[in-house]
Amino acid sequence: MKKYTEIKDISNLSETIKEAILLKMNPYEFETLGKHKTLVMLFFNASLRTRLSTEKAANNLGMQVMVLNVNDAWNIEFEDGTIMNANSSEHIKEAARVISQYADIIAVRAFPTLKDKQRDESEYVLQNFVKYATVPIINMESATAHPLQALADAITISELADKPKPKVVLSWAPHPRALPQAVANSFVEMMQHLDVDLTITHPEGYELNSEITKQTPINYNQEDALKDADFVYVKNWSNYNDYGKILNQDPNWMLTQEKLGNAKFMHCLPVRRNVVVEDVVLDGDNSLVIHQANNRTFAAQVVLKQILENL
Ligand code: CP
Repeated sequence: MKKYTEIKDISNLSETIKEAILLKMNPYEFETLGKHKTLVMLFFNASLRTRLSTEKAANNLGMQVMVLNVNDAWNIEFEDGTIMNANSSEHIKEAARVISQYADIIAVRAFPTLKDKQRDESEYVLQNFVKYATVPIINMESATAHPLQALADAITISELADKPKPKVVLSWAPHPRALPQAVANSFVEMMQHLDVDLTITHPEGYELNSEITKQTPINYNQEDALKDADFVYVKNWSNYNDYGKILNQDPNWMLTQEKLGNAKFMHCLPVRRNVVVEDVVLDGDNSLVIHQANNRTFAAQVVLKQILENL
């Protein structure tokens, strides 16, 4: 693997999932692969799971890790040719090349503005690191995608599916804050590569980017969509068409135990209890959220391993 900024960077998904499951069984098998190699993790936004699981994954491979909360550093300018007489002190051209001297791999987390759709869809932060860094880049959640989360979710479903083609439902849920579409986008894209029967359910008008959902069935009736589901993945996203807006907070879209039935419950976390999903679901035996969070380590580890093998 040359980089991991999008799911397409995985050349063989089924082999990668198998490799991740093997790493989970024996996490230190390649503990010298990353000796004298450094991962620099850059956070433009908050994180709990991504930060800790990626650092743990790198440590399991013997790598050194440096973490920078970018808001503690100089403001980075991303526009080309700009007159830097305002708030930005350093241009991405210098920043990316400087960091590349300290790093063998750079991982970046940079959320969308949810105000400027065109700018967000250009993935200007991530793509400028790809353009100007001289080492491989890993996406730790960008404006439109969260491929490490999606890989962890694919590992989770592969481990726990008890039938050849499980029914997987991605259900929108209400949320008081405007959230990105990134997790939902990457989950849909990842499921399209797995042998699953995927349905998306959300209120009318909450369609994700049709270039991502493609022919995936959309059902505006949540109860109907959830019938016979094996896995229910719940996630809020703000409106994609009326970009970044919250147009619906209908509590009837919250996932309840009654709606879940016997299906397994999935969420990337963090999650707002009794807004997105009721307590009894999260605390119940069918909740996979802790399992998913554990698999974040092995998703990151298999990606780091494949990149290190290609350096
Ligand atoms: N799921 C996820 O990416 O969690 P964090 O935002 O805490 O990293």
